[in-house]
Amino acid sequence: MRESLADIAARYNTDKSLHRHYLESYERYFGPLRDSDIRLLELGIKDGGSLLMWRDYFPSGVIAGLDINPAAVDDSTGRVRTFQGPQQDAEVLDRAAAECTSDGFDIIIDDCSHIGVLARESFRHLFNNQLKSGGWYVIEDWGTAYWPSWVDGAEYSSKEKRFSTPLYRATRGMNRLAQLQIPIMGGLAQALKKLLIRRQFNHHDFGMVGFVKELIDELAAGDRTHERFGVGPHRLSSIAEMHLFHAHAFIRKA
Ligand SMILES: C[S@@+](CC[C@H](N)C(=O)[O-])C[C@H]1O[C@@H](n2cnc3c(N)ncnc32)[C@H](O)[C@@H]1O
Repeated sequence: MRESLADIAARYNTDKSLHRHYLESYERYFGPLRDSDIRLLELGIKDGGSLLMWRDYFPSGVIAGLDINPAAVDDSTGRVRTFQGPQQDAEVLDRAAAECTSDGFDIIIDDCSHIGVLARESFRHLFNNQLKSGGWYVIEDWGTAYWPSWVDGAEYSSKEKRFSTPLYRATRGMNRLAQLQIPIMGGLAQALKKLLIRRQFNHHDFGMVGFVKELIDELAAGDRTHERFGVGPHRLSSIAEMHLFHAHAFIRKA
């Protein structure tokens, strides 16, 4: 039987070995790719333990890592490459792709700053330009946004939201009025409806959570731009599927 990812992780200094559920997800999604000639980029190297773990898990893969700090990784195979720079720097991200791939990465993992605006910046650039179609983008530790001590985290405040019949009736009334498409009146009714339905649900869009929620909007591009019900020129999502787990997310490019 082949060595599991958890057994490999245990050999190296990587905090992934502390997160069994991450390793289980990685095995589930990456197991079928194990013998492929994959190109993997991980943002956030630290001591290099995870790069060595991926090197051993993918015996034919090329493993690239990027960190804002210098990182020396003890690899004798020549299959591990490291790059120094901030995760939001498109130039260093493009250099990593040019030096390690001919047509983009198969897997990109963001285990880096865990700061929403920075993670979004790398995602926007890498997902669109340096990830193969069908490739996986993994975001680790998106739960940092629930921690008040984290740079862009804040306490989750959940006030119980209750169903209200009068509010619901008023919303339906406004919607009906808006659909009549009477000039000015229609726009006004739509605006009032928006006010009525605003904050019907608990809302936490700080840091990494805000970023992950934006990805849901991208996943819904087809509905957002629906020819009859949506707005803007119709287009499908650039995301084929998205799997959310406790503190980690797998996003497959369409
Ligand atoms: C959690 S550690 C990475 C752990 C490693 N992936 C592992 O599994 O063993 C996060 C790393 O991200 C780096 N980092 C933090 N902010 C960064 C940024 N804006 N750009 C690039 N690297 C950053 C830190 O220097 C640190 O080494």
